[in-house]
Amino acid sequence: MTDLELAELLACTRCDLAATRQRVVVGSGPRPPKIVVVGEAPGRQEDEGGEPFVGRSGQLLFRLLGEVGLAREDCFVTNVVKCRPPANRAPRPREIAACAPWFALQMAEMGAAPLLALGATAARSTLGATRGIGVIHGRVVERDGRVGLATYHPAAALRGGDRVLSVMREDLAILRGLVA
Ligand code: URA
Repeated sequence: MTDLELAELLACTRCDLAATRQRVVVGSGPRPPKIVVVGEAPGRQEDEGGEPFVGRSGQLLFRLLGEVGLAREDCFVTNVVKCRPPANRAPRPREIAACAPWFALQMAEMGAAPLLALGATAARSTLGATRGIGVIHGRVVERDGRVGLATYHPAAALRGGDRVLSVMREDLAILRGLVA
């Protein structure tokens, strides 16, 4: 993304989320990274701080990635939608579509890094998943020349407890095997 494109993204009004966001949460990490981590949309803490996955979900996510030897500094971390939906509702299809060109510009800077999609929204947008996360998690797919897999969103593990956590651990071990 050029400086001009970044400036445009930071001032983006392509969808209604512009009216209620505090910050555009662009994403952060090395380019190219070891892996690309894609969530759904910023939450309250991300909207306030301007960084993705800095709240409770992020703490859990990076603890689990740490268990397979991946640090936050190894990851480019972003979301399908760059602005917080009010009350953390799921992003709407038109919001995802409005944000897609920004996401595409980011992906162009990611080299061949494998992608981790967190939750159903990210799995649909990034891996073309058509089935639920309970079915497609941990399956390695190739899309647009990049390998990737989906796992549960860490927020689901915060709600769902040990069963979800152990599935995420299995999925992240598979992801680790994809990293060069
Ligand atoms: N949930 C997400 O999907 N993304 C974030 O950045 C934070 C929470």
